[in-house]
Amino acid sequence: MIPAEIVKNAFNPEVGPIGVFDSGYGGLTILSEIKTLMPQYNYVYLGDNARAPYGNRSFELVYEFTLQAVEWFFAQRCPLVVLACNTASAKALRSIQQKNLPVIAPSRRVLGVIRPTAELVGCITKNGHVGVLGTAGTIQSQSYEIEINKLHPGLTVTSEACPMWVPLVENREYDKPGADYFVKQHIDRILQKDPEIDTLILGCTHYPLLMEKIKMHLPENITVVEQGKYVAESLRNYLHRHPEIDERCAKNRHTSYFTTESPEKFAQQASIFLKENIQSQKTVIDTIC
Ligand code: DGL
Repeated sequence: MIPAEIVKNAFNPEVGPIGVFDSGYGGLTILSEIKTLMPQYNYVYLGDNARAPYGNRSFELVYEFTLQAVEWFFAQRCPLVVLACNTASAKALRSIQQKNLPVIAPSRRVLGVIRPTAELVGCITKNGHVGVLGTAGTIQSQSYEIEINKLHPGLTVTSEACPMWVPLVENREYDKPGADYFVKQHIDRILQKDPEIDTLILGCTHYPLLMEKIKMHLPENITVVEQGKYVAESLRNYLHRHPEIDERCAKNRHTSYFTTESPEKFAQQASIFLKENIQSQKTVIDTIC
């Protein structure tokens, strides 16, 4: 027999899964940590693979694409959407929260990945020298500098854009010998800019897939900050502090996956990020707005 709670929620338009968004596969590294910490919830993941990568696109386009995705999640009844993409968090989150949400869905929430990472970095660095690696869009936006300076004013933050890293991951080249060149190049550059860096933020959700190579080319005394765990903990705290949102998040341990490109390709790639086999469905998001 289906539990009464599930039957009730199935017909309640206010109750739905937590949405997790990325331009492509990178957000799966975040989803994986969120699911480990909070397996009881329902999730819906959307990768805008047809238009990835976002990293080199203009502010206007990233904002437009991200807003389309957020509207798509709301059409799936998500009370809460996590932008598991630094580029979208850097370029679109604030506008969506301040301009769009009050008009299109005042009772729903959209959160990003930059603030939870910036919050924790102050406790990790010992000498106050922090490095940030990210896409060109994230680095140009200076979102990490702004957030870190707000929260931990004494820290020195040095950034480096790594425009080739997302394509290496999206094209499954992240563990091939060719990837070493680009990984070493950007690590050498950021350490030239500030040789005292003791904490390095991977400010792109694709980058954990390059971890093996990053560690290979990075001095051992530098702490590498992966976002997944911090974002998951921050989401759990958020839901704890906001029971009115939490009670609208469905909890049947179900996850569905959508992509704007080929579902077969998505399922195959996603299994690498998630270390489990999944099914995915194709969807269209640019007709929602
Ligand atoms: N995973 C996204 C991020 O964290 C990827 C960016 C892209 O699509 O270039 O920034």
